[in-house]
Amino acid sequence: MSAPAELVEKVRRLSEEIEFHNVRYYQQDDPLITDAEYDRLMAELLALEERYPELLTPDSPSQRVGAPPVEAFAEVRHEVPMLSLANVFSEEDLTAFDARVRKDSAQESVDYVAEPKLDGLAVNLLYQDGVLVRAATRGDGQVGEDVTHNVRVIRAIPLRLQGEGYPVHFEARGEVFMPKEGFLALNERARKTGDKVFANPRNAAAGSLRQLDARVTASRPLSFYAYGIGAFPEDRLPATQHELIEMLQRWGLPVSPELRLVRGVTGCSDYFSSLAERRSRLPYDIDGVVYKVDCLRFQAVLGFLSRAPRWAVAHKFPAEEARTRVLAIEIQVGRTGVLTPVARLEPVFVGGVTITNATLNNAEIIKEKDVRVGDTVIVRRAGDVIPEVVQIVPELREVGAEPFRMPEACPECGSALEIVEGEVAVRCSGGLYCPAQHKESVKHFASRRAMDIEGLGEKLVDQLVDKKLIATVADLYRLSLEQLAGLERMGAKSAANLLEALERSKHTTLARFLYALGIRDVGEVTAKALADHFGSLDALMAAHEEELLSVADVGPVVSGHVLLFFRQDHNREVIAQLLELGVVWETRAKTSDEGERPFEGRVFVLTGTLSAMSREEARARLETLGAKCTGSVSKKTDFVVAGAEPGSKLAKATELGVPVLDEDGFLAMLDRGRP
Ligand code: IVH
Repeated sequence: MSAPAELVEKVRRLSEEIEFHNVRYYQQDDPLITDAEYDRLMAELLALEERYPELLTPDSPSQRVGAPPVEAFAEVRHEVPMLSLANVFSEEDLTAFDARVRKDSAQESVDYVAEPKLDGLAVNLLYQDGVLVRAATRGDGQVGEDVTHNVRVIRAIPLRLQGEGYPVHFEARGEVFMPKEGFLALNERARKTGDKVFANPRNAAAGSLRQLDARVTASRPLSFYAYGIGAFPEDRLPATQHELIEMLQRWGLPVSPELRLVRGVTGCSDYFSSLAERRSRLPYDIDGVVYKVDCLRFQAVLGFLSRAPRWAVAHKFPAEEARTRVLAIEIQVGRTGVLTPVARLEPVFVGGVTITNATLNNAEIIKEKDVRVGDTVIVRRAGDVIPEVVQIVPELREVGAEPFRMPEACPECGSALEIVEGEVAVRCSGGLYCPAQHKESVKHFASRRAMDIEGLGEKLVDQLVDKKLIATVADLYRLSLEQLAGLERMGAKSAANLLEALERSKHTTLARFLYALGIRDVGEVTAKALADHFGSLDALMAAHEEELLSVADVGPVVSGHVLLFFRQDHNREVIAQLLELGVVWETRAKTSDEGERPFEGRVFVLTGTLSAMSREEARARLETLGAKCTGSVSKKTDFVVAGAEPGSKLAKATELGVPVLDEDGFLAMLDRGRP
């Protein structure tokens, strides 16, 4: 049955519409329709293509779901070799690079395009008449692997170019990478399902792209930025690298928003320092900066040396991985009783600091990595994340090294361990009887975002618990000046200050109080949602499962923890004591449905760094209140929240006249509970 003409037209329009929404969602982070609406469009297209296979084109958005598995990858010989980059590691090397470029191009000062060196893998995309027809990996630079079926599922990569003026036959090159957030989620899922856990986003991206089954690739959160070209008709080239990148962008290829045109070696090193400073806050891993001579004529003059261009260089960040030795493996018991193995290390300088400990996450991961005392290991410290043991160096294992065994009882209190089915964590069953859990729960209670007891730090809590001055958190409010002044490193003055801080902390909010109680899986966002929904502690304590489940963010697991917590007499007792000792908050009448989402319909854009919370937290809190957070500023944006060092979004907001909130203004708005 051949397709009627109007269906041909319909499939074309549907495809265009879906691609348009792909760009809004995956490139601009600013969707116009809901996921369900999107799925409906896609289902309609799939149905038509199934009925009339002749309507299926290689650039159809339906190809994004992944083709059936292939046997092996075909080889692709690159029309233009895919090069690598020379590295520099210091300002000195960079100056030498620039000196050589200036000499060979006979210029006094050279402009460079500076951009992040993404930690993913290079791909070459061949566009024929604006349609993506082949994608290949770099391979050895001459011959790569055909990964077209996998690249088609990456939503950031256009299957069909936009606009006009693109050559009939040309290649775009860029990096496929996995954003950090997607990487963490992927590994978390893998741990639960027993699938392969990846060591870092780069490996995850490479593993995902080199899948024989594109449906697997489709389930992986891959993204892409274009940074150059391969085959390209010479007479169609612009004069400069930055114009070339702008052209690719106009045709719908995503390019790094961090890309800048800079002048001379000073421009390069300023860019380097600014990016190094922001590195840990970027949503993807980078391992340095790439500088490229902007003028394409000079690029041609400079040419290539063996396998790297002489007109570009990678300026690498200091290594974030180093080798050291495991001196011991100890067990830490956290607030909720989870046992975490920690490796004590021979001190090593990595990522700019000396580290002596690294987390081994849990028993399963130690087993998987087979880390033993005495092993030589590779440790990694990226940005401000907790250092971790990446892998051992098996060749350097000493004979007789014993496999690590998790203890059979809690090392802190001797209580039996709980192993929950379907969970990797092993927990101490001692509850607050366990001094380690007790200390952690007091520290949590006192922490800034909970009861905010200023000055009640780690060392003090340890002493209070060890000296048996407090049995429960309620006892904190019974401490006397003499008791406090008698502690190590405490004078009369700081004891008095602490008493004042304790007094101040009594005035709180229901949300903070609930969070401070440390109910399992009740983080700040859930605590706020519970407080908003129930309005009072009594109402929450009397709630049944159905009502708990009706709260946004609360599923059967969380509701189970909440019910269990309030059912226990000792918890009710501590709560009663806290209230008696003067802990208070303002009670509001139970909010109406409308009041629960007071930010409904408001669109926020977050930029820069907030000191009180991460951007993810800010986003979660806004969303709980009903607001929508998007990635780019437009006329539809209601507020831009600008933390420290805001990006170009602040300038855009000013340009469009969108109201801008600084951190204080933003926190005040959250406290007020309405925009
Ligand atoms: S340009 C002729 N730009 O680094 C220049 N490469 O060491 C060739 N890479 O294989 C590459 N980010 O996978 C360029 N902004 C960037 C890059 C980048 C990451 C990778 C790429 C390449 C490797 C070379």
